[in-house]
Amino acid sequence: MSDVRITVIDREGVSHQLNAPADMNMNLMEVCKAYELPIEGTCGGMALCASCQCYILSDHVLGAISEDEEAMLSEAFFVKDSSRLGCQIPITEGLNGLQIQIAPEEI
Ligand code: FES
Repeated sequence: MSDVRITVIDREGVSHQLNAPADMNMNLMEVCKAYELPIEGTCGGMALCASCQCYILSDHVLGAISEDEEAMLSEAFFVKDSSRLGCQIPITEGLNGLQIQIAPEEI
């Protein structure tokens, strides 16, 4: 039973501190939505929309990018080396202290 602390910078540059449960099988996109942050998650977490794109600001080691995530990011806008799809990042205890920024909205 543990929460991890995650810092999320929204599209206005405002920083939000989230407590995310590491034992509820949630992903980063779902946690951001639970806090009503402006991350759309249009495809429901299927790696099919890139509306949950975020930039990883801290140097946490995350799980490898799947082929589906890689393919989606290759078509998305505003992609950086630090881009990941929030829905493809499960909340685990190792994410404590993670810092991310929500990518700009696609036009
Ligand atoms: Fe669609 Fe993450 S919610 S790719």
